[in-house]
Amino acid sequence: MAKVYYHIVPSTIGSMRCSLRSSVAFLITIFVICVIYFPRENGRLYDQKKDLLTDDHTSKRSPDQNHSSDSCDLFSGKWVFDNESYPLYKEDECPFMSDLLACKKFGRKDFNYQHWRWQPHQCNLRRFNGTVLLERLRNKRMVFVGDSVMRGQWVSFACLVNKFVPRALESMHFSFNHSLITLRAEEYNASIEFYWSPLLVESTSDHQWNHRFHSTIVRAQAIYKHAKHWTDADILIFGTYLWWRRPFMNTLWGSLGSADGILKRVEMLRSYEMGLKTWSDWLEIHIDRNKSQLYFMSMPPTHRRAEEWGKSTNGTCYNEQEMIKEEGYRGNGTDLRMMRIVEDTIDELKRRGLQVKLMNITQLSEYRKDGHPSIYRKQWLALSEEQLAKPTSYSDCTHWCLPGVPDVWNELLYAHIST
Ligand SMILES: *[C@@H]1O[C@H](CO)[C@@H](O)[C@H](O)[C@H]1NC(C)=O
Ligand SMILES: *[C@@H]1O[C@H](CO)[C@@H](O)[C@H](O)[C@H]1NC(C)=O
Ligand SMILES: *[C@@H]1O[C@H](CO)[C@@H](O)[C@H](O)[C@H]1NC(C)=O
Ligand SMILES: *[C@@H]1O[C@H](CO)[C@@H](O)[C@H](O)[C@H]1NC(C)=O
Ligand SMILES: *[C@@H]1O[C@H](CO)[C@@H](O)[C@H](O)[C@H]1NC(C)=O
Ligand SMILES: *[C@@H]1O[C@H](CO)[C@@H](O)[C@H](O)[C@H]1NC(C)=O
Ligand SMILES: *[C@@H]1O[C@H](CO)[C@@H](O)[C@H](O)[C@H]1NC(C)=O
Ligand SMILES: *[C@@H]1O[C@H](CO)[C@@H](O)[C@H](O)[C@H]1NC(C)=O
Ligand SMILES: *[C@@H]1O[C@H](CO)[C@@H](O)[C@H](O)[C@H]1NC(C)=O
Repeated sequence: MAKVYYHIVPSTIGSMRCSLRSSVAFLITIFVICVIYFPRENGRLYDQKKDLLTDDHTSKRSPDQNHSSDSCDLFSGKWVFDNESYPLYKEDECPFMSDLLACKKFGRKDFNYQHWRWQPHQCNLRRFNGTVLLERLRNKRMVFVGDSVMRGQWVSFACLVNKFVPRALESMHFSFNHSLITLRAEEYNASIEFYWSPLLVESTSDHQWNHRFHSTIVRAQAIYKHAKHWTDADILIFGTYLWWRRPFMNTLWGSLGSADGILKRVEMLRSYEMGLKTWSDWLEIHIDRNKSQLYFMSMPPTHRRAEEWGKSTNGTCYNEQEMIKEEGYRGNGTDLRMMRIVEDTIDELKRRGLQVKLMNITQLSEYRKDGHPSIYRKQWLALSEEQLAKPTSYSDCTHWCLPGVPDVWNELLYAHIST
């Protein structure tokens, strides 16, 4: 009954269609790029800055002073224009860059989206230091698990490490039929990996490059096939959201292709809850609490409908060069009911003695309608004239340009990991 699909079929989710499929692009360039980087003096990094979001010129960051991540909510803050220290690396100097995220390479001409620093209200973010990080990762395995947005965050992480410790990441290795991509820092015996499973649990879209969004069937009660590959990792970063966003989810009990399976259309929230329950039950039983650190990235917002931020036309994130300035802005693609399910799942795990840190990046990313590739990325299928005439029709308002917003997610992650 249930089939595994190997063809890519055009879908109406223009931006997800090909990008979720692709990314063959970064398989390549692992040759040495000598990024010569000399750390600047602490005091000079943040002298000159302009705060465009709030016009508050007083919030100087004094690096490495006040960054306690326990006492301070790092996710509550504001964006501060800082073209001295940001971007943290250059797009064309990162050997791991993906053509789906390399907006400059594909023609983007405005670069302010690269120049924003996240400033928590109560404290300062610890400055990213690749040496400190790699020491922390010595003899360890770190795995990002999730969809293509998570893969973008992993690329960002690799670019950051590469910027601060050039050539530390020496080899890239694919395994489990490309579900797992491993970057090794041999000198540190450390691995920084990405594991593709867009719904965390098993589904018909478990092939990293060949999958179909719309016809996905999820096995909400099965995770072993994936989890066995990452259970022993020391640091795990999970995220699953975008692939669940639809009214109903085709949900399968039993195994794919077997006669005893039962396939039902299940209301999405219910299916999401089941999937996360399967995930959390697995963690509770299999994770070594003395060894593994667990993180969950909250939902990344999309900016597909300009009406949501008060534009009257049929716009998207295309041509958006500034962020949204309304404090607390939330687009209606952000489903708080799903956020609640994630919170409840994590709370329940905590009661059962397992800590998962929720990385609450939704709100800070909501402002950043300027951060998406829109039309400035590799297209995997030729565009029709009709599409070309209407750029909004194929704008990617789901993923994020690099350098950009995911670098900040990783700085927040770094603040926790390096503590
Ligand atoms: C990173 O940390 C190391 C070790 O603490 C230190 O020597 C180095 O100066 C730091 N680099 C930066 C850019 O702050
Ligand atoms: C996430 O952060 C936002 C902004 O600080 C806050 O309003 C929201 O309550 C937080 N959610 C969780 C689950 O911590
Ligand atoms: C930063 O931006 C300001 C104002 O846009 C500009 O005057 C300055 O030259 C920029 N500095 C750098 C290093 O790009
Ligand atoms: C450090 O952060 C705390 C809140 O966590 C704040 O009360 C305090 O004023 C901050 N100190 C400095 C020097 O910024
Ligand atoms: C390298 O790291 C792995 C865990 O990722 C560990 O099992 C192994 O013992 C380490 N090797 C050495 C030589 O320390
Ligand atoms: C990889 O794919 C081949 C054929 O598509 C299959 O026979 C094999 O079992 C797969 N290996 C894994 C680890 O999934
Ligand atoms: C974890 O650490 C605690 C205290 O250090 C110890 O009592 C316990 O046996 C350890 N558990 C495992 C599974 O190693
Ligand atoms: C928006 O799209 C709708 C349907 O595609 C169309 O009827 C309408 O004219 C468009 N409005 C503008 C301002 O382009
Ligand atoms: C999102 O907002 C638009 C415009 O305000 C509205 O037409 C649409 O129905 C909303 N979608 C959801 C899921 O609430």
